[in-house]
Amino acid sequence: MSVLITGGAGFIGANFVLDWVANTDEKIINLDKLTYAGNMASLASLQNNPQHVFVQGDIGDDKLLPKLLAEHQPRAVLNFAAESHVDRSIHGPGDFIETNIVGTFRLLESVRGYWQALASEAQQQFRFLHVSTDEVYGSLSPQDPAFSENNKYEPNSPYSASKAASDHLVRAWHHTYGLPVLTTNCSNNYGPLHFPEKLIPLMIVNALAGKPLPVYGDGMQVRDWLYVKDHCSAIRRVLEGGQLGETYNVGGWNEKPNIEIVNTVCALLDEMRPRSDGQSYATQITYVKDRPGHDRRYAIDARKLEKELGWKPAETFETGIRKTVAWYLDNAEWVANVQSGAYREWVTKQYKA
Ligand code: NAD
Ligand code: TYD
Repeated sequence: MSVLITGGAGFIGANFVLDWVANTDEKIINLDKLTYAGNMASLASLQNNPQHVFVQGDIGDDKLLPKLLAEHQPRAVLNFAAESHVDRSIHGPGDFIETNIVGTFRLLESVRGYWQALASEAQQQFRFLHVSTDEVYGSLSPQDPAFSENNKYEPNSPYSASKAASDHLVRAWHHTYGLPVLTTNCSNNYGPLHFPEKLIPLMIVNALAGKPLPVYGDGMQVRDWLYVKDHCSAIRRVLEGGQLGETYNVGGWNEKPNIEIVNTVCALLDEMRPRSDGQSYATQITYVKDRPGHDRRYAIDARKLEKELGWKPAETFETGIRKTVAWYLDNAEWVANVQSGAYREWVTKQYKA
């Protein structure tokens, strides 16, 4: 038995692959294009492990996909591959349309061809799990209830619009062709292996480098933070027990304004790696121009997943953020490795640094 994951060299995908190998004996085939966000250093511990098979390639490659599927006969395909950073989608939406919409369409077609040719029992067992985001639901005002699976889609950024489109395609492939799909919509993840263009790792890396900590606008935008290992356990649970054609919201009940997150990161660094001049890292906080179209608040109501499938996050924000800061302090080599020329170009473009 095996499963095929796409985007398994990215932040969440690599955590998923590592947890999969740690928790099961089943082979995992990992298809990743290795864009700037894909990083083989995250998978270095699996280099000689036959349970993990890495293939560099594009989800939209309709020659490679049928070959891979025929060769490995996976019982499931888990689609993590995407362009994932909102700020990049504002500077250049093209790659987001290409991978998140056209790529997902091509992947669905390759998987449909494979699934239709399976023997009837294997066909019944097969699953296509699509990993998506809460950002498809748009932005909440302070008094709104958290997003449930019944909220309408109101994406506001090129990123969230492209993910919304991919969710619609996945849904349509179920209703039209019967493809056995599951979709998860998750809130903001944090944890080890997170590329330092996103809020939490960027703050840790900049703080340690003595650089400004750029907070967009008034810093009062709210996100609902989930430790990445909890997201991975939710995906495993949905894969095994989810109802076909259903979507499941995944969240950690941890709504926090950005400025509180940044202050928490600074306080943990003050404790674990104090600045040599005795000052707090919080003195590096710098308010910068807001993101265009910045969504004010996201919050996930994860009760469906909890009630139907008995899933609960294992970490609180306090335990998860402490583990995360400690991981970045212990993995300076990984951080140095991902801060390549391409990373520096992005930082210059976005922050004029
Ligand atoms: P990431 O950007 O860290 O990783 C994406 C991975 O996909 C990279 O390894 C990249 O090389 C690969 N990839 C990109 N285009 C590809 C293509 N055309 N073919 C094959 N591989 C390709 O993203 P992430 O944070 O790990 O997110 C994974 C998934 O989870 C995405 O679908 C994202 O929309 C979703 N999601 C992320 C978050 C979050 O907080 N990070 C929250 C909710 C949902
Ligand atoms: P991000 O990690 O990019 O995730 P998303 O946009 O998908 O929610 O950003 C999280 C929040 O942090 C978001 O409200 C934007 C804000 N932010 C900053 O204030 N400064 C930064 O440098 C970054 C990258 C994000």
